[in-house]
Amino acid sequence: MAAAKITSVKALADLPGLSSIPTTYSIQSTPNIVNEEAVSDATESIPTIDFSLLTSTNPEERYKAIQELGKACEDWGFFVVTNHGVVESTMKGMIEACRAFFELTEEEKKEYEGKSVVDPIRFGTSTAPGDKVLFWRDYLKVLLHPSFNSPNKPPTFREFALEYGKGARYVAREIVRGICDSLGLEEDYIDKAFNLDNGVQRMVANFYPPCPQPELAMGLPPHSDHALLTLLIQNGIGGLQVEHEGKWININPIPNTFLANIGDFIQILSNGKYKSILHRAVVNSRDTRISIAIPHGPAIDAVVSPASKLIDPVCNPPIYRAVKYKEYLELNQSNTLDGKSCLEHIRIR
Ligand code: OGA
Ligand code: NI
Repeated sequence: MAAAKITSVKALADLPGLSSIPTTYSIQSTPNIVNEEAVSDATESIPTIDFSLLTSTNPEERYKAIQELGKACEDWGFFVVTNHGVVESTMKGMIEACRAFFELTEEEKKEYEGKSVVDPIRFGTSTAPGDKVLFWRDYLKVLLHPSFNSPNKPPTFREFALEYGKGARYVAREIVRGICDSLGLEEDYIDKAFNLDNGVQRMVANFYPPCPQPELAMGLPPHSDHALLTLLIQNGIGGLQVEHEGKWININPIPNTFLANIGDFIQILSNGKYKSILHRAVVNSRDTRISIAIPHGPAIDAVVSPASKLIDPVCNPPIYRAVKYKEYLELNQSNTLDGKSCLEHIRIR
């Protein structure tokens, strides 16, 4: 029997007796994606933001939370969000619905293979089709807002995606308000300037099956997220690494929390004060890891530029030119995930 074409890493990982990875998945020959740089565990020191304090009606509590948020954005660009109000059963249900999607037959998933980057639902593997090296990851991308979409299978997906999407959107918007406040902008500056009522919310579910040679493969290469703020949840299996002070830090999952990170647009808006941080996903040989990242973006036709209040022609001239969200997305998607190359494209000094 001729070998069927492999359409996902799940299908590959499911092959009986697979003990080594195809060379196309080996990152050894790609010097910018080496695996053996210093890695340390520092989940303890990653900042935590208590969402209930950030949204508190007590001005003192909120003030303190805003200070902490600003510091977290400046020092880390990544933080854990607790007491966010999204119920645990919704988070778990969303992860299980994604797992059930990835466990559909290859035939069934193929139905959702997107033809174009603007398709509202897209299943695929690795990152971009032209990648020199393949990544040990399948994905499902679903546009949840401003128009809501859902695959029809599994049947539970729609309900969880509606509920989870709504909850995550609220949390992201409140954090973005806090970020504005911490930068000395009007709280609703981003809301208005980027028309967040029509903000783009695209869920990215990542599926990383066990890999027989995890040290040779990579789940996702180092990249920054393009949008304003990404919220990530995971199924309890670690694999995310964040760059901090020149080192890769293992971020261990904490149940019932969001992991939030600053995207490129906050870096542009803040004229480089808050930076989007490089992160990547490594794989392991034992467990399937599932993560769901939701980058929250402006409206598709919004124009992003450094906030005029945060720049000064003499002391602090703009570092980035204005860019339409749509243009940036196209740039992001034509460019394989490669560090922060998109941001470099719009740098003017
Ligand atoms: C992403 C991402 C990290 C992870 O989807 O943008 O960074 O841990 N995912 O899966
Ligand atoms: Ni990311």
